[in-house]
Amino acid sequence: MANLIVVGTQWGDEGKGKVVDILSESFDAVVRFQGGNNAGHTVVVAEAKVVLHLVPSGILRMGKMCILGNGVVIDLPALTHEIEQLRKLQVRVEGSLYIGKSAHLVLPYHKILDVERERHATPRIGTTGRGIGPAYADKMARLGIRIGDLYDPVAFRERLAAALAEKKAQAGPGSLLHTLDPTALFREQMQHFEQVKAFLVDASEVINRLIAEGRRTLFEGAQGTLLDVDLGTYPYVTSSSATAGGACTGAGVGPTHIDGVVGVMKAYTTRVGEGPFPTELTDATGQLLRDRGQEYGATTGRPRRCGWLDAVALRYAVRVNGLRTLALTKLDVLDTLPGIRVCTGYQYRGERLTAFPNETGILAECAPVYEDLSGWEESTIGALKLEQLPKACRVYLDRLQALAGVDVSLISTGARRDQTILVDTSAFREWGLTR
Ligand code: GDP
Ligand code: IMO
Ligand code: MG
Repeated sequence: MANLIVVGTQWGDEGKGKVVDILSESFDAVVRFQGGNNAGHTVVVAEAKVVLHLVPSGILRMGKMCILGNGVVIDLPALTHEIEQLRKLQVRVEGSLYIGKSAHLVLPYHKILDVERERHATPRIGTTGRGIGPAYADKMARLGIRIGDLYDPVAFRERLAAALAEKKAQAGPGSLLHTLDPTALFREQMQHFEQVKAFLVDASEVINRLIAEGRRTLFEGAQGTLLDVDLGTYPYVTSSSATAGGACTGAGVGPTHIDGVVGVMKAYTTRVGEGPFPTELTDATGQLLRDRGQEYGATTGRPRRCGWLDAVALRYAVRVNGLRTLALTKLDVLDTLPGIRVCTGYQYRGERLTAFPNETGILAECAPVYEDLSGWEESTIGALKLEQLPKACRVYLDRLQALAGVDVSLISTGARRDQTILVDTSAFREWGLTR
């Protein structure tokens, strides 16, 4: 038995989609437990690139159950569009997709509130503009509408009209909220609901039944540890629990059923949006990482900020997620560099910090302390075995594992499914994942 959580260890876009796609081969179900269509998870199968925003990355493997847990927020038009796109690619959605009835909706007024707040607010977060923050705020304020509420159109219509009226009353005169018509909104939501109604289930019940039957479930995190609302670089975070703990509440599964947590990390660091980033490179090396790594947002197309690997933040991710092992991606992006730097500590007001300060004010003033390693200056693209990696690359890997305090079980050497090294670590063996 193995029920595993996969989380991002950095600021998102670590390659969770690819890692989940690889691992899902050994699982029966894949569950998204938080976030919404702010996520963009890219999976490359053969030469075809698929970007998933809401649907779990297991959908590209036949016969896997893909479940949206209660902790996810759903933009109905975005979900029906994604389903349509998958159908065009001949991906079987019927019988594979399950949508938790208790998941909250992201409604058009949430998107307007998100975008308008970003225009005027201090500080600006640099959100994806998908309405995620306002939707989770309504959920916590007990003003949210859950997808299962649409089973009762009369009650839904009333609640929607009341919620919209309240938002309008609080809005400034120039707000686009005033252009929203409650009847049109109701009709639009109902029309999309009709298209997904057949997929609705009690997600917690379905997942716990699978677990009771001894089937294997993978929990797919979105965003990353440093974007977690509690444990990330607040306020420059997303509005959900992107760390491992979120999988239990967001899927309705008890922690006693979880067998392990895998952290996905890139061989360097990226961040989209605002907020402190100690190892950020604004020079030619940063641009090289962006170009070679094609670091442009899968959701918004924004160029990602790039920098060196931050082992201080990585150790923090190991701690707050209880990571047992790591999946390392985009190793090949470093192939051309003569030297590679890893941040092992921070200098803060004359003091040396080795633990990640979960205070944005302090982090913003931290200067990275680097350790310099040799580059390997040869291609690792498509390597399938550790032995195929250059010596300097092996040294880098050993150092990374020593700094993190956990093993690396999977190494991604290219965007494609087949460009992957599965390492025979004790965690992977225990979970039955070694090839
Ligand atoms: P996610 O949000 O964590 O799923 O990550 P994204 O999909 O947003 O971003 C990761 C990007 O890197 C995608 O375009 C992947 O296709 C690509 N990718 C994943 N692993 C590798 C790798 O090992 N090498 C390279 N060159 N690209 C990779
Ligand atoms: P995946 O799952 C990278 C960032 C936004 C912004 C902050 C808040 O693909 O790794 P939000 O719209 O969530 O309120 O924005 O979080 N952000 C992401 N950055 N990858 C993501 O998802 C992200 N989802 C949100 O850029 O800084
Ligand atoms: Mg992404």
